[in-house]
Amino acid sequence: MLIRSIKEMKQVVKKLKKEGKTIGFVPTMGYLHEGHRSLMRCSKKENQITVVSVFVNPIQFGEGEDLDRYPRDLERDLQVCREEGVDFLFHPKVEEMYPEGYSTYVVVEGLTEGLCGAFREGHFKGVSTVVAKLFNIVQPDRAYFGRKDYQQLIVIKRMVEDLNMDVEVVDCPIVREEDGLALSSRNKYLSPEERRSALSLSKALFRAKELFEAGERDAEKIKEEMRKIIKSYPEVKDIQYIEIVHPHTLKPKKKAEKGDVVALAVFIGNTRLIDNITL
Ligand code: PAF
Repeated sequence: MLIRSIKEMKQVVKKLKKEGKTIGFVPTMGYLHEGHRSLMRCSKKENQITVVSVFVNPIQFGEGEDLDRYPRDLERDLQVCREEGVDFLFHPKVEEMYPEGYSTYVVVEGLTEGLCGAFREGHFKGVSTVVAKLFNIVQPDRAYFGRKDYQQLIVIKRMVEDLNMDVEVVDCPIVREEDGLALSSRNKYLSPEERRSALSLSKALFRAKELFEAGERDAEKIKEEMRKIIKSYPEVKDIQYIEIVHPHTLKPKKKAEKGDVVALAVFIGNTRLIDNITL
């Protein structure tokens, strides 16, 4: 089930296609959690074969970001994939994905300028490039992305449409801990005190939705109340952004409307967490 080379993955895909099998694909950076499991389960339901990739993609990390300390545990990931009945785990090497002389990138313009894109230069260029490469290798019928990385989801959908890729991008709901914290491999970085303060993100988002449902439409007022909530938690170091955006264009809104997305990025200690909610 473990495939480590691009060549072998392509051979397997060729055979599966010949047999007329449908392929569902879950691209990940590993350290798999319940959120990833939910994507695998969706894929299993809708496709005959499910492929998961585990690849910590160096080109989507900026300088000073957490590439080196990003949690990695292939044995554990393999176990999770086995438990979920995944057919193949694709784990290519960095040197094979980006050999010397590598020069080709996919850039989705516009959508990548705001939200996380404004603070993580080159991040989405790295994401769209690796996802395009993985789609070329795995040739999935459907690919599964969580809504937690909402901007990533919209960027990938745009890329697939613009480049006429034959893949259906399926978005799946955010999976949360019982207390509301959105699942993320980066939650592993949090100390017990930080873990408590990490709740500030979901608390603020739930409050935003409550305000909206009570009739508040002024985006600034909603964001101000969210800021107050977040700042009341001791381990919050910085609110990088809070935005209310149109769900497709990702343009910031002054007046919130049904379907808009409230998104935020907050540093809890040195850990940057993101989350969002749809109004
Ligand atoms: O969401 C992720 O884990 C990554 O950004 C992805 C889509 C696997 C690309 O490296």
